[in-house]
Amino acid sequence: MVDHPADRAWIDVERYLSETLVKSDDALQQAVSSARQAEMPPIEVAPTAGKLLMLLARLSGARHVLEIGTLAGYSTIWLARGVPEDGTVTTLEFLGKHADVARSNVDRAGVGHKVTIRQGSALETLPLLEAEGAGPFDLVFIDADKVSNVAYLRWALRLSRPGGVIVLDNAVWNGTITDARNPDADVRGIRAALEFLGTDPRVEATAIQTVGSKGWDGFALAVIK
Ligand code: SAH
Ligand code: DHB
Ligand code: MG
Repeated sequence: MVDHPADRAWIDVERYLSETLVKSDDALQQAVSSARQAEMPPIEVAPTAGKLLMLLARLSGARHVLEIGTLAGYSTIWLARGVPEDGTVTTLEFLGKHADVARSNVDRAGVGHKVTIRQGSALETLPLLEAEGAGPFDLVFIDADKVSNVAYLRWALRLSRPGGVIVLDNAVWNGTITDARNPDADVRGIRAALEFLGTDPRVEATAIQTVGSKGWDGFALAVIK
């Protein structure tokens, strides 16, 4: 992607907002640096978005959170901070290396007792969770492979309670989502998810665009009726 002058201003603003309002700490910084150390892509949510996840958990009174896509556990730490001391975050991660790094990051952050990391393909883990009687979840954060977004939304509805909240990351994907003929599988998965959220009678949804260190993207937010 080309470096547009606006990109730098957006990143400066994000840094200012992070420094002024979010205030990182050693645990969060180490979650990010461990991800770079392990050569994971820099695709954890921005600090401002991470704190939004914590606030959404608080606002909704969430006690039990499901996350799909853990990476190094950066968003997991924020979500775990948003649930009460006896609350839980169940986070699903395909790659063993990511799950291992995330485990040490959530432990270092002092929220390990709230967090269960399930390694495997989420579409295989989700039926297991249901069979185990997991849930109902109060908040679901979907942030894994975009081709499975609609399947994840269906699972989120299956495993959540009325009033539950769904947050879908990467809803704008550098603006590519407006092209109905784009053959890219990720674009199609994101568009299908947005169309699902716009038409399924069980949810009320919107989406917000974001700019900053993660480029031009956004998230969709839904509440289950
Ligand atoms: N939520 C994280 C970022 C997640 S990045 C944060 O903001 O900190 C997406 C993650 O989803 C990657 O770690 C990737 O390995 C994982 N992933 C991709 N496909 C998956 C699948 N089918 N099941 C579970 N995890 C998957
Ligand atoms: C990618 C995935 C994400 O979840 C994200 O927030 C940004 C980028 C990616 O696969 O490129
Ligand atoms: Mg994401």
